[in-house]
Amino acid sequence: MDSYKFRDLCGQILNAVDSIFVGNPLLLRKVLCAALANGHILFEDYPGLGKTLLAKVFAKVLGCKWARIQFTPDLMPADIVGTRVWKANISEFVLEKGPIFTNILLADEINRAPPKTQSALLEAMEERQVTIEGVTHRLESPFFVMATQNPIELEGTYPLPEAQLDRFLVRLSTGYVESLDLECEILRRRIKWQRDDPTELIEPVISPETFREMQNFVEKDVYIDQQIIEYIAKIIRSTRGHPMIEVGSSPRGGLSLLKLSRAHAAVCGRDFVTPDDVKIFVYDALNHRIILNPEYIVEGTANAKAIIDEILGKIEVPKHFMRR
Ligand SMILES: Nc1ncnc2c1ncn2[C@@H]1O[C@H](COP(=O)(O)OP(=O)(O)O)[C@@H](O)[C@H]1O
Ligand SMILES: [Mg+2]
Repeated sequence: MDSYKFRDLCGQILNAVDSIFVGNPLLLRKVLCAALANGHILFEDYPGLGKTLLAKVFAKVLGCKWARIQFTPDLMPADIVGTRVWKANISEFVLEKGPIFTNILLADEINRAPPKTQSALLEAMEERQVTIEGVTHRLESPFFVMATQNPIELEGTYPLPEAQLDRFLVRLSTGYVESLDLECEILRRRIKWQRDDPTELIEPVISPETFREMQNFVEKDVYIDQQIIEYIAKIIRSTRGHPMIEVGSSPRGGLSLLKLSRAHAAVCGRDFVTPDDVKIFVYDALNHRIILNPEYIVEGTANAKAIIDEILGKIEVPKHFMRR
């Protein structure tokens, strides 16, 4: 694997996703970066904005094993991780593995299940292993979760606690398509596909082995200069003392920026990180990790996007970073 081969494969993956999902190329690139960093992705937006579709398309295109769990109020932890069941014919308990034993798990409408069930999933996300009745099982690699949720104000939801949100590498929203033309394109594609679920038509673009090689490339072969490491650390630290922020980013926020920026460099065909690779992800990597000061929320003046932009504006961008 070299930078050229890597970029070429990314182009093929993104084209395949784009042939189904109508929308913003930058969003698709961000999802790919998070997947290449083996990170968990949370899609949050109103119903019907293509969250499930986008997660499914990526899962299929990447050629890995995948499973989907629809979260409901009566979903139990065992429905996710599995359980030991009594087999009368052999007079033994046998482990029935749950859907979490896969490569890409779609956790759909994660905030419709109660906290106990959510935490069973979130434990596995952090440790990449699950314990069933005292026995620990490692999950395969790659393993990451693409979860979707509706905004928390909607009825019948259990918001994820901050500690659990922190486990997601990024929180992204799909958003509405930008133009009338794209809105028409969604309708035209529906006519062309002659079905509601176009993901039946998708063929994988790469094999699981190739995907693992790509993840390894990001992990091992993308250089990041000391100056850019310092840039990330300064961004994280400035979320802490900010007057409009009650709780700033954890160090995990910094690690997320590190992973995402290296993946982004590789997707762009480079083997070194630039400050722009970091900047592009600051909002996505930090918006779910900072808690705004309630005083300003009540006043309506605090807005995470504006605060993050302000922070970025104050930190000097490294200019003389090394490329190797
Ligand atoms: N950007 C989009 N491109 C193509 N189809 C879309 C898009 N957004 C929504 N749809 C279609 O709208 C319907 C609802 O999408 P879905 O993924 O189920 O939404 P959500 O999970 O956000 O509630 C699906 O039939 C999907 O194919
Ligand atoms: Mg959905």
